[in-house]
Formats: sequence, structure tokens, C-alpha cells
Amino acid sequence: MRYGHFDDARREYVITHPDTPLPWINYLGSEEYFGIISNTAGGYSFYRDARLRRLTRYRYNNAPLDLGGRYVYLRDDVSGDFWSPSWQPTQRELEDYACRHGLGYSIISSRYQGISAETLYFVPGGETLEIWRVRVTNERAEPAKLSLFSSIEFCLWDAQDDATNFQRNYSVGEVEVEDGVIYHKTEYRERRDHFAFFACSEPLAGFDTQRDAFLGPYRSWDRPITVERGASSNSIAHGWQPSGSHHVRLEIGPGETKEVIFLLGYAENPRDAKFDPPGSQTIDKRLVRPTIDRYLQPAVVAEAFEALRARWTDLLGICQAQTGNEHVDRMVNVWNPYQCMVTFNMSRSASLFESGIGRGMGFRDTSQDLLGFVHMIPSRARERLIDVASTQLPTGGAYHQYQPLTKRGNNDVGSGFNDDPAWLVLAVAAYLKETGDTSILDVAVPYDNRPGTERPLYEHLQRSIVYTLERRGPHGLPLIGRADWNDCLNLNCFSETPGESFQTTENRSGGVAESVFIAGLFVLAANDLAEIAALRGDGAEAARCISAAAEMRDVVAQHGWDGAWFRRAYDFYGRPVGSAENDEGQIFIEPQGMCIMAGIGLDDGRARVALDSVRQRLATPHGIVVLQPAFTRYHLHLGEISTYPGGYKENAGVFCHTNPWVMIAETRVGNGDGALDYYLRINPSAREDLSEIHRGEPYVYAQMIAGKDAATPGEAKNTWLTGTAAWNFTAISQWILGIRPEHAGLRIDPCVPAAWGDFTLTRRFRGATYRIAVRKHAGASGRVTRLRVDGRTVGGNLAPLPASPGADIEVEAFVEATP
Ligand code: BGC
Ligand code: NOJ
Repeated sequence: MRYGHFDDARREYVITHPDTPLPWINYLGSEEYFGIISNTAGGYSFYRDARLRRLTRYRYNNAPLDLGGRYVYLRDDVSGDFWSPSWQPTQRELEDYACRHGLGYSIISSRYQGISAETLYFVPGGETLEIWRVRVTNERAEPAKLSLFSSIEFCLWDAQDDATNFQRNYSVGEVEVEDGVIYHKTEYRERRDHFAFFACSEPLAGFDTQRDAFLGPYRSWDRPITVERGASSNSIAHGWQPSGSHHVRLEIGPGETKEVIFLLGYAENPRDAKFDPPGSQTIDKRLVRPTIDRYLQPAVVAEAFEALRARWTDLLGICQAQTGNEHVDRMVNVWNPYQCMVTFNMSRSASLFESGIGRGMGFRDTSQDLLGFVHMIPSRARERLIDVASTQLPTGGAYHQYQPLTKRGNNDVGSGFNDDPAWLVLAVAAYLKETGDTSILDVAVPYDNRPGTERPLYEHLQRSIVYTLERRGPHGLPLIGRADWNDCLNLNCFSETPGESFQTTENRSGGVAESVFIAGLFVLAANDLAEIAALRGDGAEAARCISAAAEMRDVVAQHGWDGAWFRRAYDFYGRPVGSAENDEGQIFIEPQGMCIMAGIGLDDGRARVALDSVRQRLATPHGIVVLQPAFTRYHLHLGEISTYPGGYKENAGVFCHTNPWVMIAETRVGNGDGALDYYLRINPSAREDLSEIHRGEPYVYAQMIAGKDAATPGEAKNTWLTGTAAWNFTAISQWILGIRPEHAGLRIDPCVPAAWGDFTLTRRFRGATYRIAVRKHAGASGRVTRLRVDGRTVGGNLAPLPASPGADIEVEAFVEATP
């Protein structure tokens, strides 16, 4: 069953049933001010850091799951009947409910008793505020007298403290109300120079700022007393729960529409100019007021909204495909890059599965997110690369996470995840291939943010490689440390105490557990660095990297092969993990994908054998599971992976992040049919018809889909913030459709299903626009061996770099009939 549909022309997903299996969310803002918004207007907002600068309150894991948000209420002042045009929280039965989630905005509309309402929510570019534009239309034959109420609940900034420190928090809340604007200024008197504002374009009949006054004792958001009786109480919050609500009376003639704008925003004042008059405790509003006045004007709002749409048209124009497969086209052209933007902005901080107070920016997560983002806004990617590299340790190791606000490595989690440094090499290589901006390699970047330790970024990459080389185990494979990509394969932590962290508890430090996965990743990274070194004319380094990669490949061939697939690791005792010798967890997906991506097993046929094993043992209709057989009991020496019930998460769930690695591996062995088949199994649009099983949003990837051992196979969890976004974009755009930025040009190397005919792609690259027509007969299964570039034949499949910026380059790529 479906709960809505794609509107491809408008680049929106239109939800037509408010009671989706789970809240289906969207993101507002993409610079500094952000919000999460569900299809029934639930969610919250923050400035830069979801933990430390939370503007509005949200209770995770609530019942219903999604309660609290940006709600407006309408009340018929004649009958006294009231409702929420976003369905929640009153849940009145609405006509024509629709939530249009677009790129950076959501529009929720419905009709009730002849009154239709449409609310547009978005964050204008360059601003730290969100707009709610409410349009109310009277479709009745007679005039309507209505009340419109806005509502939010303020968070006292630090979301963690806000949810726990009640003995203090019930006494600190403060607000001001001036000229109809509600200002939330808790802690402004002391060390905070920031406040929130909540403004309305219309004259007010009243307002409320104390939650209990708005709701009434023992009431919830579904029937606030204020709305029920049609009158605010002009409450001023003193401690307890500061909130915001405006009351506007509307008289609307038949067929007439009235527009009301609400603004919720964040503002800072210079520390020495906080108060007006100086010495008072009143917020100086002279800086913020012009912004408020500006965005309360309908024409300004309309213009800002158009600018947001135009911005996305431009960004998406960088890579467009017309393949004739609707699932491929809409994910490649719209939703997958959009999700990549969101993961770049949020890392793993704020979604409905990430509370915003948990993790900072992951070193490996951020590095991988860049792979799907770098083509969109390379300047932001560059900045992020420097931030990440600045947290690298002098050993070449990495803090596993850093805090977005301070950009400092996080000591609580520390380091020792031995795959981390290698991802940085992949990310910098992707940036260089996309932009050609080799100047980044010379940027002086500190280690561990320590002044005086600055070295060229190039050296950071070298140390990343050395880090792995210096940490090898008895078989010559890289030591795994606390974990590699799989956070839950904890081979050096034997935890028997509830509540201990599987990742950071060190009771087997110095352990010799090794990772075949890191070996594959290392080969990729070392080859990338070899190319980078060659670009710099550093032949000695290039040669070192090439021979280190070759040596590692040999080690994998010798100790990483199990007979029909690549092994996963060696445990603390030196026994194989992911081997036919094991009774559970015999085969893991990660080394199959990673080793083959790195080219291991291509020349001796092992790659194909491993991929056959994947197909036989791991593939399911809902995607490829992490491992088989699932762990049925806790294995002390394997760690968290065996704590999950079988079929969920790392214990044999379809951990979607890893699936594109296998898709890429399939293209490496020339199996376009196999690659696209896997792609479509987890493609959310292709799963739309299964929405009652999949349950997550059909427009974004999930981290996990429950595997075949689960009680609920096919059920998605943890949508939005996952490395799946970047890797699927990489797999489909660079390997299946085959448009791959390289240092020397744009590789045109599609590996698509044999049945496909011609298709076209547009790719902006190094300042030029490549218009690519792939010429292919249906049935042809070979690869591109020649191009026509602006009418001239070029052997091979590399379209050269543009001769001049701004060029329009016509490329025809001819696919051979057979491999
Ligand atoms: C999850 C992993 C996650 C880790 C973070 C585990 O419980 O299964 O996916 O990376 O926690 O620490
Ligand atoms: C999610 C984490 O964010 C990521 O870093 C990790 O690789 C996967 N889980 C697998 O454990």
C-alpha cells in the first residue's frame, strides 16, 4: 500500500494519509538554522548544533511517537469547533489532507468544514529563521469568523540539560513580549548572547508564553484550553515551560483567502550591546527587528521561497540522468542528492532515530558523506575536509568523533577505530577528482587542533596510510582496534557488564584481532594516495603506495580468502571470523564489497566466486544482509554484533550502507544486471508499494531494513542519516550509470542491464557541462570502448577535461555488444 505519491515535476513527495506507519519527516534549512518537520507538522528547530542550541522542545520516543512541533490551530468562532489543519495534534478527520515534502520545505494542507488551510514551512537562504506561511481560504457560501493560533514550546537551549535538570530549569525560563513578538531569553541575563523570537504578521487578539496557561491544567496539545475557549490569556512565563502562541482573529468572505506569516528565529547580539537601554535587562532588539519586519511581508516570503527552489534547481542540475527507469531517475536527480545534503549537514545528529544530543560528527561518517556531496558545493566540502583533518592525531589515527560547534575531537569516545584514517584519503581524493583543486594539499592543517603542529594536508594523508602499515597483526592484516566500519564487531572488548560501551571499554587492549575489511579499504586508499602523489610529482611516494597496496593485496589473497568468499577478520585468539569454520556468522558482506571494489580477486576469478556466494547466502528481496547465519546468542569475543536479535542492525539486518559496495563490485566484474537488481531492492522509491511493510519514508534511504531472520523482514529503520545516501549515489551515478570524475577527465563507463537501450546524462564538471548520450542496443552487455567528444572520436572511455571553462561538451559513448 502507498500513503502518497511522488510529484516528480515539482520534486515533492505528496503524503495523502496523515497516519503514515511512522512519522515521515523532512528537513528545513541547510546552512546554520535547521529543523526537522514531520508530515503532521511535528519536529523541532535548532541553530547549528542540535544539542547545544535547541530552539524548540521535542520529546523523543513519545506516544504518539511524534508529538510536539509547529502546530497551528483553527477555530470556528461561531460554532466553537476547532481543528489542526496538519491533522496532529487534534486528529479531526480532514478532507484533502496533503503534506508535500519538497527540498528544504514542506507544505501541509487540508480542508475542514469548508475552510481550507495551507501552511508552507521553510528557512530562507542566508537567514537563521523559519517561516510558516499560513493561507486560509473560506470555501463556504457565507463569511467565516475564525481564530488562528500558533504554538511552539521553547527548549532551554541545551537539549540534554533541558530534558534532565528540572530543579533548575523550572525556575530559569524567561520571555519578553514586545509589539506582538515573543522573545525567548532564558539565560540571556547571564552567559548567553542569543535569544529566539516568534513573530506574527497580523495584529494579535492575544498571546501566551506559559505552556500551562496555553494548554490548561491536565490538558495536552490536542485540546488546548486557549483554543477551546477562543481566547488567549496573555501569559508571561516565569520559569516552568516557556512557550509561544499567537492568537489572530480572521474574518474571511466566501471564496476569499487570508495569509498570515509566522516567523520563528534565532538571533545573537554583541556581548556589550545586549540590553536596551544599557544596564537594563531588556533585550536590545535593534539588530533583529529589521529582519523580522522584512520577512513578515508576503512578497519577501514569496521571493525567498522562489530563491530556495531555484537554488535546488541549480544544485540538482549538476548531475541529471534520463534513463527511463523512474526509480533510478527520481533518486539520482532529486532525492538521493537531497539526502546527501542532509547527511552532510547533520552527520548522525538529528533525525527521528538520532536525538540530537548523542553523537557529534563521525570521522568516518563525515568522510564518507563527502563522497555524495562534494559535487554539489565543493567549497563547503573543502572546509569540512580541513575541519576533519584538523582533528587527526599525530599518529595518523583519528578521534572517532568531533563536536560541530567546537570542532574538537571528542575525548569520551576517543580513537582506535582503525579504519577511520583511511576514509579521509578517499574523501580528499574524491574532492580532488571533482575539483582539480590541488591547492588543498598544501593547506597547513594542525594535528588534534594543536597550534604549532600544522603540516600540509598531504602529509595527513601520508600519515593515514602509515597508521595502517604500522598496525598489522600476526597475518600481516591491519589490526582492527576497537572496531572498523562495523562498529559492532568488537574483537578486542570482552564485555560482561551491562551498560558498558562495546566500543570504548578496553579490556583486551593490545589485542591482535585483524580486519580483512580494513585491508581492502587500505588498498583503495593507498591507490588513491598514489595517484595524488603522482599529481604532485612525488614519484617516490606514489611508488611506496603502489607497492604497499600490492603487498596488502597479497596478504588478503593468502589470509583473507576462505574458499568461496573473503573472510571478515581474525579474532583476539587469531581464529577466523566470517569463515565456513564458524557455526554462526560464516560470511559477512563488508569484505566482499570492499575487497572487490579495491580490485582484489578480479584477476583470479575470486571476485565472481565471492559475489556468487553473496547472491546465494546473503541476498534477500529486501536487500543484502550483513551476514549469515545470524548470531543466535551472545558471543563474548565478537561483541555488540551478537547482542542484536537476528535480522536487525549489524546482526544480519540489511545494513543498506554496505549494499552499494556490492553493487560496485558487480560492476567491477561487468554484471550490470546484478548491480541494478541490488540497487532496486533497497531503492526507496522502488519500495513505495510496500510502504506498509517498509514503513519508512519512500523518498530516502534507511540505514537498515530488517533481514530474513527478523520477525519483520523488510521493515526499515533509521531513515535519513546514514552513509547509505552517499554510497548509493556513488554506486548508481559513478559505477552503474558510470559517470566518474577522475583526475584526468570524466570517465564514461556505464555498466547497466543488458536490456537497457540508449540513455542520456548531464554532468557539470570542472566548469563545463558534459551532455552525454550513451548509445547502446538493447541486449548489448559490453562496455564503452570509444567516445565521440564534440564530434571527434576518442579511444577508450575518458572524456578529457574541458579546454575552457563554461564549455558545453557533447559526448557520445558507444557500448559494445558483448563484454
Ligand atoms: C549501532 C551502530 C552504531 C553504533 C554507534 C550501535 O549500537 O548498531 O550502527 O554505529 O551503535 O556507537
Ligand atoms: C553507523 C555508524 O554511524 C557508522 O559509522 C558505522 O560504520 C555503521 N553504523 C556500521 O556499524
